[in-house]
Amino acid sequence: TIIHDSSEDASLYVSKEIINLIKERQKEGKTVVLGLATGSTPTKVYDYLVQAHKEDGLSFSNVITFNLDEYFPMHADSIHSYVRFMNEHLFDHIDIKKENVHIPDGTKTLENVKAFCEAYEEKIEKSGGIDIQILGIGRTGHIGFNEPGSSLSSKTRVVRLDRVTLLDAASDFFGLENVPSKAITMGVGTIMAARRIILMAWGEGKAQIIKQAVEGEIRESIPATFLQQHGNCDFILDSAAASAL
Ligand code: GLP
Repeated sequence: TIIHDSSEDASLYVSKEIINLIKERQKEGKTVVLGLATGSTPTKVYDYLVQAHKEDGLSFSNVITFNLDEYFPMHADSIHSYVRFMNEHLFDHIDIKKENVHIPDGTKTLENVKAFCEAYEEKIEKSGGIDIQILGIGRTGHIGFNEPGSSLSSKTRVVRLDRVTLLDAASDFFGLENVPSKAITMGVGTIMAARRIILMAWGEGKAQIIKQAVEGEIRESIPATFLQQHGNCDFILDSAAASAL
C-alpha cells in the first residue's frame, strides 16, 4: 500500500507511472497495453493523461486499451454507458487510435454474448497481455464487476450485480429500478494476468473494504483479496481510504 495525503497527489503519481511507460515503449517502438476502469476513482488520472497530451504533446498512438466492464444490456450512446464515460473522460481528448480501444459490448444478445467474451479474452492475449491494469473497488470488494463469489480463475463473462452495487449505482441511474441487473466484466483471472496492477481508493467510505482487501484472509467473498497473491500490485490510497489500516 502507498498512502498519499490527497487523491490528487495519488492520481498524479499513478498518471506518472503510466506516462513513463508510454514514453519508454515509444522509444523502443513498442505498444503499451492498459487495462482501464470506470467510476469516480480514476477520473483524475485520466485528467492528468489528457493534460500530458494537450500540454506536453504526449502521444497515445502506441497505446492499446481494454476496459474492465460494462453494464448489460447497455447501448453505447446511453448516458450511462461506460463507452460514453471513457470517451468523455479520456478517449475524445487524446490521439489514441479507435481500433486500439476495447470496451465490453453491452449491445450483444444473451445468445452471442458468450462468444463476445471469449473473443475479448483472445484480443487481450493477442495484444501481448495487459502491462498496467487500473482498478477501483466497490463496497462489496468487487474489482471490475467481479462480485463476491467470483473465482480466482474467472474470465470475461456476464455476471449478476450484487444488491449493494445496484444501490450504489441507483443515484446515477435516477432510481434503483433503472440500474441494469447484469454486467459484462473481465474475470479475476483476466485481471490477475496483468503484469502490473494498481488499485486506487479515495475517501473514508472505502476505508472498511480496503482494510478487508489488504489485511483480510484471501477469499471469494471479497474478490479484491485475491490481489494479495499478485506479485506486482499496489494499493494507492489517500489517507482517508487508508484510515482503518
Ligand atoms: C463500479 C465499477 C468498478 C468501480 C466501482 C467503484 O462498480 N464497475 O470498476 O471500481 O464502481 O466506483 P467508484 O470509483 O465510483 O467508487
